[in-house]
Amino acid sequence: MSLKHIAIIMDGNGRWAKKRHLPRLLGHRAGVKAVERTVRAAADFGIPYLSLYAFSTENWKRPQTEVKGLMSLFRYYINKKVLELVKEDVRLRFAGRIKELPKDIQEIIHEAENETEKGQRLQLIVCLNYGGRQEIVDAVQKLLKDGYKGEVTEETIRSHLYLPDLPDPDLIIRTSGEYRLSNFWLWEGSYSEFYFSSLLWPDFNKEALQEAILSYEKRDRRYGGIQR
Ligand code: IPE
Ligand code: IPE
Ligand code: MG
Repeated sequence: MSLKHIAIIMDGNGRWAKKRHLPRLLGHRAGVKAVERTVRAAADFGIPYLSLYAFSTENWKRPQTEVKGLMSLFRYYINKKVLELVKEDVRLRFAGRIKELPKDIQEIIHEAENETEKGQRLQLIVCLNYGGRQEIVDAVQKLLKDGYKGEVTEETIRSHLYLPDLPDPDLIIRTSGEYRLSNFWLWEGSYSEFYFSSLLWPDFNKEALQEAILSYEKRDRRYGGIQR
């Protein structure tokens, strides 16, 4: 069964740190290592699109120190990884309300997108200040701003989403034993398959990704039709 796009809700960094009596930020740092492993694994498994939920529009509610720490991590990591991603033929893209992020991060993001633009092996989509409801609101706002007067269809909405050319996620994985969407890919995920892993995100690895893929391959996607 075709598997083009895997989306991951990377959850459990805080609990991973807590278990070790470490500050939450060290959990996020360990989470970055899991990102690196997972990107490599997805490329090895021939998955063309991988999207990662890194920061939700609701995550601003966290203590300022944590938010700041996460922003520094994004700043450092994106900058540091670009050359490596170019070498590995990976295209990096971002989805979310980018304009609300600190200015220097916006610049880093645009640079990273430009520099990795030719990547063919894997598209890595980082959802940063992303919210599914906000994405739909933003799509409608764009339509209104464009003065769109035609009939509004699914395609009209879709073509105004953050990344209109991105195929819908076939599989959404959430780690840390939580069973909810937390405002991720609301429009795009309407027919996604779900896989829940009890691993905390910093412990996620290639084997765990493979298990999720194997589980996906056994599914029967009916899209409202009948079993084939
Ligand atoms: C996910 O880990 C990372 C982000 C939301 C940025 P959490 O920070 O939510 O970890 P838990 O859920 O507190 O364990
Ligand atoms: C979802 O995790 C957001 C990201 C992984 C970036 P949260 O930890 O923020 O979700 P809730 O609050 O438990 O629903
Ligand atoms: Mg969490």
